[in-house]
Amino acid sequence: MIDTHCHIDFRDFDHDREEIIVSASEFGVDRLINIGTDLHSSRRAFALANEYENIFCTVGVHPHDAKTLSDRFMVEMETMSANPKVVGIGEIGLDYFRDLSPRDIQRDAFVKQLDLAVKLDQPVVIHVREAMDDALEIISDYAGRLKGVFHCFPGTVAEANKVISHGFHVSVNGIMTYKNSKMADIGREIDLQSILIETDCPYLTPVPHRGKRNVPAYVKLVCAKLAELRQLDFDEVEKITTRNAEKLFRLVETFG
Ligand code: NI
Repeated sequence: MIDTHCHIDFRDFDHDREEIIVSASEFGVDRLINIGTDLHSSRRAFALANEYENIFCTVGVHPHDAKTLSDRFMVEMETMSANPKVVGIGEIGLDYFRDLSPRDIQRDAFVKQLDLAVKLDQPVVIHVREAMDDALEIISDYAGRLKGVFHCFPGTVAEANKVISHGFHVSVNGIMTYKNSKMADIGREIDLQSILIETDCPYLTPVPHRGKRNVPAYVKLVCAKLAELRQLDFDEVEKITTRNAEKLFRLVETFG
């Protein structure tokens, strides 16, 4: 099983990072994709991916940090992207909920990094919060030229189907295990071939560990919830979602 979106580089893991990485494998979560969020996080993600065989990474600047995206870092991303452990550009996107960078700057950084991903032939990991209309409009220009995933999918079933019609995936996480979550509708109704599973750890810990720190091993709880919603066997959902992630991030072709 693959945790397609984790932040093991964050300081929440400074005291036991090694242990958490090893225990993920012991729990059957044999591959992790550590997602970069800014220049420093992307560098740390890159270092981890090169230190551990089972860790892959993405590099990019999150909408919160959009105002920090520099031309120099764009060049550095390009250099890092040549390394086979870098499997995508992200996380990038729009966040109008927290508005930590001005919206026009967020849109500019998003488009620049989408263009970079096209140039580098890398998939993208997209973060959207309270900005789905703008994100869909921007993304529609890239349909057929770019693949990627809308992570921690925050929208409706109709919006998910729009995302998928543009050639993108959606991903679900611990939110799906919370009472009355919209994300459960996504898990129940969206074509399983277009769904990835993730933790977004250290955040969004699934039930029954809600309130504690999230870890990659808990992606199994996300898989179990998805299986329950679909009324399918855990093993089948594991197989399909793993294959989806391997194809999107080209984990198989590169590492046969
Ligand atoms: Ni994230």
